[in-house]
Amino acid sequence: MRIVAEHLSYTYNAKSPFETAALKDVSLTIEEGEFFGIIGHTGSGKSTFVQHLNGLLRLPSSMKKYRPKKPKKGQAPLPATVLKVGDFDLTDKKTNFRALRRSVGMVFQYPEYQLFAETVRDDVAFGLKNFSEEKLTDEELDSAVRAALEVVGLDFDELKDKSPFELSGGQKRRVAIAGVIVTRPEVLVLDEPAAGLDPLGKREIMELLHRLHREWCKTVVIVSHDMDEISENCTRAAVFADGRVECVLPPRELFRHAQRLTELGLDVPLTAKLCALLQERGIEIDCDFTVQDFCAKVLDYARSHPKQGGGRA
Ligand SMILES: Nc1ncnc2c1ncn2[C@@H]1O[C@H](COP(=O)(O)OP(=O)(O)O)[C@@H](O)[C@H]1O
Ligand SMILES: [Mg+2]
Repeated sequence: MRIVAEHLSYTYNAKSPFETAALKDVSLTIEEGEFFGIIGHTGSGKSTFVQHLNGLLRLPSSMKKYRPKKPKKGQAPLPATVLKVGDFDLTDKKTNFRALRRSVGMVFQYPEYQLFAETVRDDVAFGLKNFSEEKLTDEELDSAVRAALEVVGLDFDELKDKSPFELSGGQKRRVAIAGVIVTRPEVLVLDEPAAGLDPLGKREIMELLHRLHREWCKTVVIVSHDMDEISENCTRAAVFADGRVECVLPPRELFRHAQRLTELGLDVPLTAKLCALLQERGIEIDCDFTVQDFCAKVLDYARSHPKQGGGRA
């Protein structure tokens, strides 16, 4: 399913003293099959944007927010808002939002705080029960929960009767992710999936997301602060700044604009910092900013520039 947003704006607490324009005329297309990154300073609108993708911030109930404003005399009409995920038109209140939520899985920041059921099994089954059109048998639920736990690397028989609160932090996060993917969504959206984890936990979560991308969900969208995560994993990334999309580029091109990213209060991957340091010493390394490609290109450079004076001839 392709995700298309055009001229999407969103204001919290409109017409009150607390009014905040969180999205301002955002246009962004995410192709089916992408592992897409969303980056930007805190408060730039990333979470607000992704919460639109499964209708969590509902367009229909607040349609007037999305209806193009009546133009003032002599002004051209504002372009209409488009928000589509596959065939789901999120600006149409007749859309089947339950089916949409089954197709677009949403993992919030710190999802483990939303675990609530008495057992791991019931927690993971909850989303499936909730979003299914027909009533599922216990066997059907168990088999879906087993498969979802397995793909996130957890054992059904060992954990099914445990309280989610007995688990370690990393396990809790996996259970929470299992509770979202259990509906087999085509699109999986995760808001800061690795936040608050130690480096090993981060690596494991990113490996899990790649497994899900290969085996379970066609399209993965992650919000991230971690530029190394973006350069290593994403097909493309959108940079949000003050409610707008600043640019959408593959990491290979994005991180060439290190200075602009720094101006936006963003970091760059370690590989981009190393490339900049080498460039100051007159050494150009043209890599895609993954660690692997960076090392390969540095080795190529070293081989083609044998040490001058002394050493081997
Ligand atoms: N529930 C809310 N009520 C009011 N304002 C909000 C709410 N959520 C976010 N905002 C505001 O909207 C803007 C965008 O926030 P958010 O989408 O959370 O950005 P990000 O995820 O990039 O940090 C910020 O100014 C934020 O303070
Ligand atoms: Mg956020």
